Amino acid sequence: MERVKNRVQEEMQRLRREIERHDHLYYILDQPEISDTEYDTLFRKLQRLEADYPELCTPDSPTQRVGAPLTGRFALATIIHSLPMLSLSNAFNEAEIRAFDRRVQQEVKESEITYVVEPKLDGLSVELIYRDGRFVQGATRGDGINGEDVTANLRTIKSIPLHLHKLHGKIPPLVAVRGEVYIDRADFDRINQQRQREGLSLFANPRNFAAGSLRQLDPNVTAMRRLKIFCYDIGNSEGITVETQHDLLISLSHLGLRVNRLYRICRGIDAVISFYQQLENERDDLPYETDGVVIKVDNFSYRRVLGTVSRSPRWAIAAKFTAKEGITSVKDIRVRVGRTGVLTPIAILEPVRIRGVEISHATLHNEDEVRRKDIRIGDSVVVQRAGDVIPKIIRPLINLRGSTERFFIMPTQCPHCNAAITRIAGEAAHRCTNISCPARIKESISHFVSKSGLDIVGFGFHLVDQLVEKGIVKRVSDIFHLTQHQLSGLERMGEKSATKLITAIEESKRVPFVRFLFAMGIPFVGEHTAATIADYFRDLKHFLMATDEELRQVPGIGPRTAAGIIAYLKQPANKQVIDELLAAGVIITERERLLEELAGKRFVFTGTLQSMTRAEATAKVNDVGGRVASSVSTDTDYIVVGKNPGAKYQQAINLKITLLTEADFIALITENE
Ligand code: IVH
Repeated sequence: MERVKNRVQEEMQRLRREIERHDHLYYILDQPEISDTEYDTLFRKLQRLEADYPELCTPDSPTQRVGAPLTGRFALATIIHSLPMLSLSNAFNEAEIRAFDRRVQQEVKESEITYVVEPKLDGLSVELIYRDGRFVQGATRGDGINGEDVTANLRTIKSIPLHLHKLHGKIPPLVAVRGEVYIDRADFDRINQQRQREGLSLFANPRNFAAGSLRQLDPNVTAMRRLKIFCYDIGNSEGITVETQHDLLISLSHLGLRVNRLYRICRGIDAVISFYQQLENERDDLPYETDGVVIKVDNFSYRRVLGTVSRSPRWAIAAKFTAKEGITSVKDIRVRVGRTGVLTPIAILEPVRIRGVEISHATLHNEDEVRRKDIRIGDSVVVQRAGDVIPKIIRPLINLRGSTERFFIMPTQCPHCNAAITRIAGEAAHRCTNISCPARIKESISHFVSKSGLDIVGFGFHLVDQLVEKGIVKRVSDIFHLTQHQLSGLERMGEKSATKLITAIEESKRVPFVRFLFAMGIPFVGEHTAATIADYFRDLKHFLMATDEELRQVPGIGPRTAAGIIAYLKQPANKQVIDELLAAGVIITERERLLEELAGKRFVFTGTLQSMTRAEATAKVNDVGGRVASSVSTDTDYIVVGKNPGAKYQQAINLKITLLTEADFIALITENE
C-alpha cells in the first residue's frame, strides 16, 4: 500500500512540475508549448489523483489556486512589511525630469547617469514572499508600513508562480518581490459590460478594479477577475545579490517572475526624455493603462548615496503623462437642489471615456462659474480628470459652435416644487425658498439618517426618494411611523430588508445628543461644532434655551454660526420637528451619561481610515465623550494610525503615545459605546 502511495506521490509531483512549467511558458513568457487541450488533460489528471488521495494534496498545488473562502473572517489581517514599501515623488513635465537628473548628478558627482525607465502601471502594488522558493505570503502595499494579507487572493493570479526557479543554480532562501497587480483594458471593459447587462454597479477604473478584486474576502471572486502582475523591485531578501536595476529585472525573470519587457536602459537624461515621450505617444496602444514612467537610477551604490526622504527614494521619480483630457458635448445643464436649498448647476455630458473611466456629469458650482467659463448647452467641451478628482469642464470649444447652442439660465422657479428662487445679495448661490421643497426634504432626510447622523443602516437615497415621492414621508419624524407593509411595497425592498430596516429605525431612536445636533442640519453646524455645543450645553433642553450671547461664549463658535443657530431655533417649524421626533419616541441621551472610560480622552488621527471618514471617526469619539485634537502633544492619549500616516505618527512614537490601528480604534470605541 505504502509503495502505491509513494508512486502516486511521485506522479503528482511530476504533474505539478509539468503544469507549473507550462504556466510559466503561458502566463509569464507568453510562449506556450502545448495546446490548451493538452494542458487541460494534464490538469485533470492531477485533479483526479488528488481527489483519490486527498491526503497527498498540498496547498501549493496548481489545482489549489482557488482555495476555500476565508470563512469566519470579516476583515483581512494586517501584516507589517519587513522593509517599508516606498512611494515615489512625481515629475509632471520635462523640466521637472531634468531637475531630478541634476539633483542626482550633484549628489553622486557624476555627469552622466544611467537610468532604467519602466512604464508606470495603474494598478495596485503588492509584495510577494517566497521562502525556500515557495510562495508563502502576499500583501498589499497599504500605507507602505502596514499592508493587508491577501495571500489567498494572490494565489489565484496565474502569473504569480507558486514556486520560484533557481537563480545561479540555487533557490534563494528568502525573496520578497514587489510588483504591480493590474488588469488589461480589454478585460476591464468586458467585465464592466457584463456587469452592466446584469444591472450591477460598474468599476470606475482599472486601478479600483484591481484593488477591489484583491481585497475580496472570497478568493473565488478574485480568481474570476483576470488579474496579472509585473514585478519590478525587491524588499528584504536573502540570496539575491544584484547591484543594478537592470540585473535585478533579469534575476527576477530568471526566478520565473513576470517582468514587463517594455523597460529601457537610458544613458543620460536625454535618452530618458525621448523614451518618456515615445511611451506617452504609444500608451493607448498598450493593452493596459499607464499613467507615466518610473525613472530609476540603475546603479545601487548610487542609490545608497542618494537615500530616502519622507518615504520616497531620491533615486527614482514617477514622470506622469499629461492630464487626462477628453472632448465631449454638453447635453443639458440641470440644477440640483441641496439640503439648504442651494441650487448647483450640473452639466449632463455625452458619456466620454477618459483613460478608462466613463464620465457623464460635471459640476459647474454656480451660475457665475457657468458665465465665466461661457459654457452653453450643446457646446463641445474639454473635460479633464485629474487623478480621482471629480471631472471638470475646462473650456468650451468655441470654434465648433453652430447656431443651436443655448445659454444656461438659472431657473426662477424651483424645478422640484415651483417655489421662487432667490439669490441672496453678495452670495454666489441661488436658493429655493420653500423649506418643504421635496428635493430639500430628500436631502435633509438623507442627512438625518446618514452615518454621522442617526446612522440608520439601509436607508439609502433611492429609498428616501421613493418615500418622499409617494408622500409617505414628508418630514423626518415620519420615518419613525413607517410600517413593514409600507416598506415592503417599495422597489428593491423585500420582506427581509424591510424587517431589517424597521429594526434599524427602532434602534436609532436612542441617539447621543451630539449626533442629534448634527442630524438636524442646522446651518454651519457640522460634526465638530456639534461636539462643541454638546460639551457646552450637555442636553437638548439647555440648548433650546440658548441665546445669541451665550452661544458666542462657546469656544470655537463665531458670530456667523451663532446667528445661524438662533435663526434656526426661532423658526416654529424647526421647533415643531423636534417636538414630533420626541413624540415619536426618540430619546436623546445626554452628554454626561456617556462620559465613562473614554471621557475626556484625547484622540489624534493621522493618515486615511478605510472603513469610515475622518468625520465619522470624530463622531464616534464624540459619542463616547472623547475629544479629537488636530496635533500630537504630551496630553494626547491615543493616536489612530490610518493609511499613509503623516509626521504626527513619528511625533507620537517619540512621545510614546498609545498607537491604535483602525481595527484597534473600532474595538476600543465599540467596547465603550
Ligand atoms: S517602483 C521605491 N516601478 O507606483 C520604488 N513602481 O508611486 C517603488 N508603480 O507604489 C516603486 N509601476 O504602485 C515602481 N515600474 C514601477 C511601477 C511602480 C507602477 C506604482 C507602485 C508604487 C507607485 C509609486
